Amino acid sequence: MAATALAKAPASPAAAGAPAGNALSVRNLDVVFGKGDGAITALSNVSVDIPAGSLVTMLGPSGCGKSTLLRAVADLVPASAGSITVLGRTPEQARRERNFSFVFQDATLLPWRSAIDNVRLPLEVGGGSGTHDDPMDLLDLVGLKGREKALPSELSGGMRQRVAIARALVTRPKILLMDEPFGALDEITRDKLNEELLRIWQETGTTIMFVTHSIPEAAFLGQHVLVLAAHPGRVKEFVTVDLPFPRRLPVRDTMEFIQITARLRKLLEEC
Ligand SMILES: Nc1ncnc2c1ncn2[C@@H]1O[C@H](COP(=O)(O)OP(=O)(O)O)[C@@H](O)[C@H]1O
Ligand SMILES: [Mg+2]
Repeated sequence: MAATALAKAPASPAAAGAPAGNALSVRNLDVVFGKGDGAITALSNVSVDIPAGSLVTMLGPSGCGKSTLLRAVADLVPASAGSITVLGRTPEQARRERNFSFVFQDATLLPWRSAIDNVRLPLEVGGGSGTHDDPMDLLDLVGLKGREKALPSELSGGMRQRVAIARALVTRPKILLMDEPFGALDEITRDKLNEELLRIWQETGTTIMFVTHSIPEAAFLGQHVLVLAAHPGRVKEFVTVDLPFPRRLPVRDTMEFIQITARLRKLLEEC
């Protein structure tokens, strides 16, 4: 699993030389859709700081604005009030500089292109300039070495998500925004990809914001869990998960983990 050409970053935020400060700062953010009587307040007065190099999961009931928050960070929906700072830039500047990438629930691969050609796609769309990683190294990183010529139809759902992650990393984004990326996978595949994602995060040092419905997934992956409440979407609590890395799946059987998930469940019930 060498991936020598990959941009190496500290193995974990606690490691020496970890990037300082916040990758992301959200201040008093409101996002309102529509106007007048029909207006929907998707997010109300949301403030959160995401430390550079960290992995933060977002948990909350359906409709609490998880996707909207990611989309606002990615400059896909405008803020109605408040501010968002991405690596010291506005979301628009960060998008132009390709400081972040998105991974969705559906891998959205081009069906007529092989795995490797799907990973290359962002480089072609961007004109091939700027720093990037070798698509072959990235397929190795996500555990798909040897499958580079396979078409999406020849890959399982989990493998397609691996390709989507490799594609998201090819432009060396500093921030990876993941919106329920494993939500459509069976439990065993999801567990495996959870462990893999932690390994990829530690190897690349990318800041990750990861949305999920799943309490165990939020607790297993996150250094912090941003719990959102609905109607209007707002911050319920920013919970720190005090479990050491590297984390492996059996940590879920420990008393510490069970206590954290119980606390998250209680917070969600109050939402
Ligand atoms: N483009 C949009 N236009 C109007 N309403 C929207 C739009 N996107 C999201 N919403 C509304 O904003 C709220 C939050 O949605 P969303 O961010 O998708 O929630 P979540 O991802 O937590 O399920 C919901 O009430 C949803 O219906
Ligand atoms: Mg959503």
